[in-house]
Amino acid sequence: MIAVTGATGNVGRALVERLAADGRPVRALTRDPERAALPDGAETVRFDLDDPAALFTGVDKLFLYVQAGGEHLAALLAAARGAGVRHVVLLSSAIVQEGADESHPIYVMHATAEQQIRDSGLAWTFLRPGAFAVNALQWVPQVRAGDTVRGVFADARSAPIHEDDIAAVAERALLDDGHEGAVHRLSGPRAVSNAEQVAAIGRALGRDLDFTEVPVEQAGPELFPYVPPHLLQGLLKTFEAMIGAEPEITDTVEKVTGVPARTFDRWAEDHAADFRS
Ligand SMILES: NC(=O)c1ccc[n+]([C@@H]2O[C@H](COP(=O)([O-])OP(=O)(O)OC[C@H]3O[C@@H](n4cnc5c(N)ncnc54)[C@H](OP(=O)(O)O)[C@@H]3O)[C@@H](O)[C@H]2O)c1
Repeated sequence: MIAVTGATGNVGRALVERLAADGRPVRALTRDPERAALPDGAETVRFDLDDPAALFTGVDKLFLYVQAGGEHLAALLAAARGAGVRHVVLLSSAIVQEGADESHPIYVMHATAEQQIRDSGLAWTFLRPGAFAVNALQWVPQVRAGDTVRGVFADARSAPIHEDDIAAVAERALLDDGHEGAVHRLSGPRAVSNAEQVAAIGRALGRDLDFTEVPVEQAGPELFPYVPPHLLQGLLKTFEAMIGAEPEITDTVEKVTGVPARTFDRWAEDHAADFRS
């Protein structure tokens, strides 16, 4: 049995759907099972940190969303190990690498979780994706309201990765041998600027969309509806560092899954309905 934390999230849901469609026993952990709307083939269980061992009865593999344990992560991992879990696949971040700014809050969050997992005695695999394509959903309210999207850094380039490509790698890391101790750095197949992403969304919708750059000092939380406010300044620093720099592009998705990583155009087509009112 595989337990999936963050099971209603972008990556967790895609992973649960894959495992359930494949007929694999999967326990989807969510803080609100009533609202989770997960596939029938998955066992949906309330994520309750009061009795963590109960979450892992009969479980041997765990997909971990980094915030799932919060300050109780070490206890969660100990409970998992005690209940028979052998291998944890962590959704970490590409920000964790040699030479990183170790004071960056997003670095601290992921590097701390990685260290706690190394210390837990469990076998592990770390997935370190760069920017998610699904971040583009931040523009949904603006695209629904008109043809101009306001945002920061029109020319900043990233190699956005489809959430289902991360889930596909996670699935292989959970099901196949040989991923223990592996760090998989993941990206989409090519670099795209913010303005190009907005244009791609327009093509998927059959509309002409424009990107209007907002000076970073005027960018507030209203432009980033999904970013926790305490992480916004750190994230803006990360975006600023992307200007003029080429993003890291890896072929790990294809190497691990046998299928090339999907393009941002493809992501926009898959999510066109999300941008329609
Ligand atoms: N966005 C990026 O560009 C990017 C890049 C690299 C790495 N990452 C990392 O990837 C992760 C986000 O993945 P995602 O987009 O799949 O997640 P997501 O959609 O934001 O949500 C994950 C799920 O986790 C649960 N959750 C949220 N906060 C929680 C908490 N404090 N405690 C327990 N459960 C909580 C929620 O489910 P329930 O309400 O159902 O419990 C939520 O649906 C983050 O750790 C992020 O740092 C993101």
